[in-house]
Amino acid sequence: MEVLVVGGGGREHALAWKLAVSPRVERVFVAPGNPGTAGEPKVENVAVAADDVDGLVELAASRRIALTVVGPEAPLVAGLADSLAAEGCPCFGPSARAARLEGSKSFAKAFLVRHGIPTARYESFDRLAPAADYVRSRGAPSVVKADGLAGGKGVTVARTVDEAVAALEAALRDEAFGAAGERVVVEDFLEGEEASFICLVDRDRVVPLASSQDYKTRDEGGAGPNTGGMGAHSPAPVVTAALHEQVMRRVVGPTVRAMAAEGAPFTGFLYAGLMIGRDGTARVLEFNVRCGDPETQPIMLRLRSDLAGMCGAAAAGRLRSGAAEWDPRTALGVVLAAEGYPGAVRRGDPILGLDEEVPDTRVFHAGTGYGEGGRVVTAGGRVLCVCGLGDDLAAARERAYARADRIDWPGRFCRTDIGRTDIGRTDIGRRATPA
Ligand code: AMP
Ligand code: GLY
Repeated sequence: MEVLVVGGGGREHALAWKLAVSPRVERVFVAPGNPGTAGEPKVENVAVAADDVDGLVELAASRRIALTVVGPEAPLVAGLADSLAAEGCPCFGPSARAARLEGSKSFAKAFLVRHGIPTARYESFDRLAPAADYVRSRGAPSVVKADGLAGGKGVTVARTVDEAVAALEAALRDEAFGAAGERVVVEDFLEGEEASFICLVDRDRVVPLASSQDYKTRDEGGAGPNTGGMGAHSPAPVVTAALHEQVMRRVVGPTVRAMAAEGAPFTGFLYAGLMIGRDGTARVLEFNVRCGDPETQPIMLRLRSDLAGMCGAAAAGRLRSGAAEWDPRTALGVVLAAEGYPGAVRRGDPILGLDEEVPDTRVFHAGTGYGEGGRVVTAGGRVLCVCGLGDDLAAARERAYARADRIDWPGRFCRTDIGRTDIGRTDIGRRATPA
């Protein structure tokens, strides 16, 4: 069959690579893809943007694509899966109604509360004065979130009431997030350790992916601004077998059953961002209706089951609940970023050392492009995700960094503490605990 992957980042490179490995897949098209996807066997880029819903539907319909897998959230929230379904094109991704779990934080929070799924206490507001009163009444720390999609920039973890009020003013008065910030969610600050829990979902049937942990701040030890993610590893040590069982029973199961019961059955990757409290309870920080980036890169490196088979079955309503097969080793990915990230970045620098072969490593492209003479150059903030596999976290980390050390361009930087459990896990605690 022919498969279409929507998107052009590191997550999509990992998905396209894994889908193409399947013997039942003849070709994977990636719209728009990147130089990394262009270099994979059986994979071909198509110049259609990830948010061009009409262009994507035309591509899938005209080529009779057997399966579309969607990387980013925006086209899903905009109704890509519905438009594909209307043309009879199988899609592994949620309808716009189901994608509200990510597209509207107030929808997601109300849903969680309505169904008794553990999450932080919250209120939502579209006017500044009552929102500020609420923040003052709850005290600091508190968390202010733009309701709609804000590209990962809509969340403020406020240490003081003043900081929280400033975040409210930015969203509700100054329109810093445009329409996405016309409404805000204010929620209680949760302490603990974060983990990402991603599942393949076909209505009430679920295949959990391996657990993972993401390092969100730019700098070591949880310092610096938030980013899309500077590295990740799978598994997440905090997700023990008991916690996995708890998350399936108290979060994932109730969520997929309730979505179906409310007339918005969920198909696609369901990503629960969790805070594991000291009391051992996993609470939902957020839902995403797609795979994580960079979590997908180490997860795909460990996946032994046929991804195309599972996504295809789910898109056809035939997924069987159960466990996928995993490489028992740990996979770790470190993001190599361009100078200036997460702000405006410098672009167009040739990347050196990309073609070196190191066993048990793999480099996924994200913000890369073609420069003079077809050379691969930097073309975005997160440029590459360099992954390694090892018998434990330390070994995976060593492999990934050994490979990353051989790749360079002017202004390249990365966090040096991805997977350092001593720093890494406190990092998460520290990030969640205002100084
Ligand atoms: P979100 O996009 O909602 O996951 O928020 C982005 C990041 O903000 C999360 O990964 C957490 O690090 C932090 N965060 C969000 N909500 C809370 C909360 N209620 N308590 C503590 N930290 C939070
Ligand atoms: N790495 C977090 C996300 O993809 O939302």
